[in-house]
Amino acid sequence: MNLFDVYKLWPIEPVKALGCSVWDREGKEYLDFYGGHAVISIGHAHPHYNEKLVNQLNNISFYSNSVVNPLQSKLAKELGEMSGYDKYSLFLSNSGAEANENALKLASFHTGKSKVLAFKGAFHGRTSGAVAVTDNSLIVSPFNSYHKIKFVPLNDIEAVRSELSSGKYAAVMIEGIQGVAGIYEPEASFLRELRKVTRKWGVTLIADEVQSGYGRTGRFFAHQHSGIKADIVTVAKGMGNGFPIGATLISPSFTAISGMLGTTFGGSHLSCAAAIAVLEVMKDEDLVCAAAQKGKYLFNALEVLGQKVGTTVIKDIRGRGLMIGIEMDEKYIPVRNSLLFEERIFTGGAKSNIIRLLPPLTISYSQIDAFIGAFENTIERQKQRIEL
Ligand SMILES: Cc1ncc(COP(=O)(O)O)c(C=O)c1O
Repeated sequence: MNLFDVYKLWPIEPVKALGCSVWDREGKEYLDFYGGHAVISIGHAHPHYNEKLVNQLNNISFYSNSVVNPLQSKLAKELGEMSGYDKYSLFLSNSGAEANENALKLASFHTGKSKVLAFKGAFHGRTSGAVAVTDNSLIVSPFNSYHKIKFVPLNDIEAVRSELSSGKYAAVMIEGIQGVAGIYEPEASFLRELRKVTRKWGVTLIADEVQSGYGRTGRFFAHQHSGIKADIVTVAKGMGNGFPIGATLISPSFTAISGMLGTTFGGSHLSCAAAIAVLEVMKDEDLVCAAAQKGKYLFNALEVLGQKVGTTVIKDIRGRGLMIGIEMDEKYIPVRNSLLFEERIFTGGAKSNIIRLLPPLTISYSQIDAFIGAFENTIERQKQRIEL
């Protein structure tokens, strides 16, 4: 049997990883400014995380959601305390798309309505409802296209007001910072108005923090920079540091009804052990604060480089904490491949010309310096290639 060929692959086979480094089969070391797509939050193979997972594996890894599992309550308590959402309740699942699917379903149960407002450029996952609220017609099949969804431009509060005044909406779903689109942040004033207008019309505000959450932007959730609280928050990626887990944080105004949501694998002993270990490391190593400080350092260094090379090379730098987008001029698109194959640094991408930096929150200042030096080298080499 062959693999269903849907992924564009780099010809690199990682066989080992530690901290912010990854080694391939030939023993070549790569610096990880991608975190396997914002998943590696506390660094690869963190000793505390590995120890907790191995211990859990030797005790019990899985049973089912029909028995008592105190690890779920421990995770809920610790996540509530760290995120400031301690009065909310937690539903555990397996991925970001599933967390969003459950959020949409809850909003619909709660309001009795089905229409959802989302934003241009949004990415919320690939399952039925999650892909329907994703603004990319290439990945929405006819089967997914029957949902009632409206997309409006990000930061356009008048468009939001005008839609919600119809009284037909169950939910508004918004990313803390748009990731897949290329790092676009909702303005704080927009989020505050969005909070007011959703409240006015009884519409559920869902913050998708799957990519921007778990400390990445220097607050536990990116939307917290604006001081608002969502009705539902979704998380995944950094939550398990590579162990598949997703979750939906639900406001106390929602009533749980037996059987309303469910999953076989979600909330397994092993996934809870992974997620608890992640929170413990984040707390012990103060990683949310580290993301804010190192993110500022990285952003400033990029701005200095941007001024040096000019806007004909780096057109824009966006983002917060360790979630940064660098928009390159079209002529400098090859820089990302040079970073990988010549400098051995993994980065993320968006569109064809945006480099997305999503390193583990444990990245060091010297690794940031190494990245900046390598980035400058690749830009210089590309400049020479263009001039030839
Ligand atoms: C903001 C956002 N929401 C949802 C998802 C979907 O998560 P998953 O791939 O775990 O289903 C992603 C994945 O990139 C994402 O960036």
